[in-house]
Amino acid sequence: MKATTRVAFPGAEELIERIDDAVARSDPRDVVHALRRSMCAMIRDSDVRLPDCVFEPHREHYARRELYRSPSLGYSVIAMTWGPGQGTPIHDHSGMWCVEGVWAGEIEVVQYELREQSGDRFQFESVGGMQAGPGSAGSLIPPHEYHTIANPSADAIAVSVHVYRAEMTQCNVFRRVDGDWYERSPRRLGLDH
Ligand SMILES: [Fe+2]
Repeated sequence: MKATTRVAFPGAEELIERIDDAVARSDPRDVVHALRRSMCAMIRDSDVRLPDCVFEPHREHYARRELYRSPSLGYSVIAMTWGPGQGTPIHDHSGMWCVEGVWAGEIEVVQYELREQSGDRFQFESVGGMQAGPGSAGSLIPPHEYHTIANPSADAIAVSVHVYRAEMTQCNVFRRVDGDWYERSPRRLGLDH
């Protein structure tokens, strides 16, 4: 039986085949490397056209829409839609690797390294960032899993596609409390339609 995405769209089968091929590797470093290359190629491939819904931002928050979850390999593919100025707090990835490709617009990513922890308080240092446009992809492998993502545009939406090692239903977010110290709190991650 052929794998199908939650919402049908042109190029979906190719997208799944390419992700399957990358995720089947054993070393996470090889997986994310192959996925970044595949993601960049698919974004530039005019045969792959994401469904219309992923270009519709949510008024209140960035939108998460699941495109596909692999029954055999366990990974999940989430399209995120960022309205102008929408973004995330610092968050972790529940210990999962992730590859993120920019499909439309611009995305700003800032990476953080954990320097100290005291109970639910964490000290982070920002260690770099990048602004990425369509056709680019980045990745993270725990323990280097802390970052923020935002759409820096004042008037344009942005769309990114994220492949996670498994379904990510929750993560931890970190709110600044004092200087470079942040307080951790769990957040459930919902899906939009
Ligand atoms: Fe993230």
